[in-house]
Amino acid sequence: MPKTFRQWVLAKPLEGPLQPDHFALREISLPEPAAGQALVRILLANIHSATRKRMAAGGTKVGATDQTNFACAVVVKSRDPVFREGDVIHCQAGWQEYQLVSSAETAIGYPPVSEIVKAANGTNSPLLYAFRPALVKMWSPSILMDVLGTSGLTAYFGLRECGPLMPRDQVAVAGTSGSVGSIAAQLAKIAGSRVIGFAGGADRCRWVVDTLGIDGCIDYTADDLDAELQSRFPQGIDFFSDGVGGRVGEAALKRLNTNGRMFSYGSAASLYGESPATGAPPPSIRRMMGISEEVEEILRRRNIKAEAWMVTDFFRERLKAEDDLSRLMFAGRLKPVANLVEGFEMLPEAIAGLYRAGRSGKLQVQFGTL
Ligand SMILES: NC(=O)c1ccc[n+]([C@@H]2O[C@H](COP(=O)([O-])OP(=O)(O)OC[C@H]3O[C@@H](n4cnc5c(N)ncnc54)[C@H](OP(=O)(O)O)[C@@H]3O)[C@@H](O)[C@H]2O)c1
Repeated sequence: MPKTFRQWVLAKPLEGPLQPDHFALREISLPEPAAGQALVRILLANIHSATRKRMAAGGTKVGATDQTNFACAVVVKSRDPVFREGDVIHCQAGWQEYQLVSSAETAIGYPPVSEIVKAANGTNSPLLYAFRPALVKMWSPSILMDVLGTSGLTAYFGLRECGPLMPRDQVAVAGTSGSVGSIAAQLAKIAGSRVIGFAGGADRCRWVVDTLGIDGCIDYTADDLDAELQSRFPQGIDFFSDGVGGRVGEAALKRLNTNGRMFSYGSAASLYGESPATGAPPPSIRRMMGISEEVEEILRRRNIKAEAWMVTDFFRERLKAEDDLSRLMFAGRLKPVANLVEGFEMLPEAIAGLYRAGRSGKLQVQFGTL
């Protein structure tokens, strides 16, 4: 066991574009777990699209790391009755090689967990649990944290809650080159629907169609998005999956049919824009997902069912979702897509690069192996 470990911290306030020199490397002593804690070695960290916004808004302090990343880790020492040495777990973690976790602690940035999730996880956090050994044997940390992590589960529950999707349904999926969207588009195709995605540029669109096997893809940077949507959806849209908002959200909403369905789970357009909004959080989850009063009125008029929530609300059914997604991957029907960067030292460049261009699937930084 090493005596120290490495950690990236925010080096200076974030003004202007995010650059690798906004990160500084520290070496700190490896802690001993206290009673009720476990020490874990981080194998891989998912980098979420709100990372830059957190840094700009002061959610990540200068001199500190961002503790809100979702990570796959292996337990190396445990004084927590829930975890045993060798367990491979899902947890929240900093940009660092080791982490202390505790089943008694609640999740950072999430409401208290329900009793049923507490019972399933054995912890007070929806995001802290040991993966089942069968899944660890079958899938890499990258897949555990992407298709079987919050991205896959968001797509799975979103399509289910707004479904069932039928073969005749015309489906539009925003953010198809991204983590949740790439899975949502594939699940809609598996349901037999006609699926058209969105991506930024002709190359990205080609990648989407070739990789995901869906029916088409619209370049969201096109001048006349309304005309593009009109020609791709002559009979209108029956189901719209939206993790993006912005121009794509507005244009798709115009073509959403009466009695249609909409799944709003995020606002990537604002997170990837030139300067992410850092104001006060919206008053409700629906407003946070871009469903304004005006949009609510359109939804009411056209009798559109719109779902907006955090995926952790459905974690009582996580095991079933993991099994279903796992089966689809095993059968070769669902393709994992991740943007995997190797090496702890690459983390600043990877995070800064996320906001430049060319992201496909979830950005993950791998630090170690089992
Ligand atoms: N509700 C929940 O529980 C939940 C769960 C997971 C994620 N989320 C949220 O969902 C959103 C997406 O997450 P993700 O992990 O899928 O993100 P991601 O992997 O970073 O993908 C983002 C996608 O958005 C697209 N995009 C970026 N800017 C755009 C713009 N201006 N117009 C149209 N498309 C644009 C990108 O397309 P190109 O790369 O082709 O430009 C990419 O496909 C985020 O807001 C995230 O916080 C919510």
